[in-house]
Amino acid sequence: MTTGTHTADKIAKINQELEGQSPQAILEWALKSFGDKISLACSLGAEDVALLDMMAKIQPGARAFVLDTGRLHEETYETLMMCRSRFDLKIETFFPQAPAVQNLLNAKGPFSFYDSIDNRKECCHARKVEPLGRALNGLDAWITGMRRAQSVTRADTPIVEIDAAHGDIIKVNPLAAWSEGELDAYNREHKVPLNPLHAKGFPSIGCAPCTRAIQAGEDVRAGRWWWESPDNKECGLHQAGAKPGT
Ligand code: ADX
Ligand code: SF4
Repeated sequence: MTTGTHTADKIAKINQELEGQSPQAILEWALKSFGDKISLACSLGAEDVALLDMMAKIQPGARAFVLDTGRLHEETYETLMMCRSRFDLKIETFFPQAPAVQNLLNAKGPFSFYDSIDNRKECCHARKVEPLGRALNGLDAWITGMRRAQSVTRADTPIVEIDAAHGDIIKVNPLAAWSEGELDAYNREHKVPLNPLHAKGFPSIGCAPCTRAIQAGEDVRAGRWWWESPDNKECGLHQAGAKPGT
């Protein structure tokens, strides 16, 4: 499959074929289909390090990128260093544009995201969404670690979708159907370098000021933007954009 040839019908058929297949089989399909025009968006959480491990085994030299918002935890940077030395992959970092962040800091200070959803989205836009656009520039497809079980906003995540928010490129979610138990078992078995924050009660990892540990029984994304309503908690990286048939 090449850029421009995918239609909603084609994607629906690919989804039918890939549903029920292992994440490794889905990744193999994706890496074979898109070559060096596909890259994994890696937040250095458990899902993404599992995918790094799988990718390095399937296709050494494959691509991944980290959006370094400038507000990540130290543990996340440590995990990046572990992954850079362990995996034979090309892991790139994308950083926000200095003027955008500087203007925001000068206008509203370093904690504006706590004041309103609009302010939070403004910060996510400058620190994540705009850099994501640059990371995806020139790609035909990208891979994420999203899982349906993570939250109400992700319950319908398809394995493959057309990403209308990013120029109709393809987005592949190889772990869509995986439970947290399946993910943990993979990471244990393969001794994947895990972000130390997971052992401190953070199942979902984002920016330091916007993420906290969760209590037993809480949703795995409950610690992200904990002051907001659960139906609203997306940062703009994953906008609803899937077309009919996906
Ligand atoms: S999100 O709201 O921050 O996007 P989550 O942390 O659950 O949610 O991430 C979902 C997926 O988005 C990750 O598996 C990864 O593919 C991508 N992602 C999130 N944050 C980053 C980041 N900082 N750098 C690269 N990819 C990211
Ligand atoms: Fe800004 Fe918080 Fe969004 Fe990070 S998660 S980009 S600090 S609002």
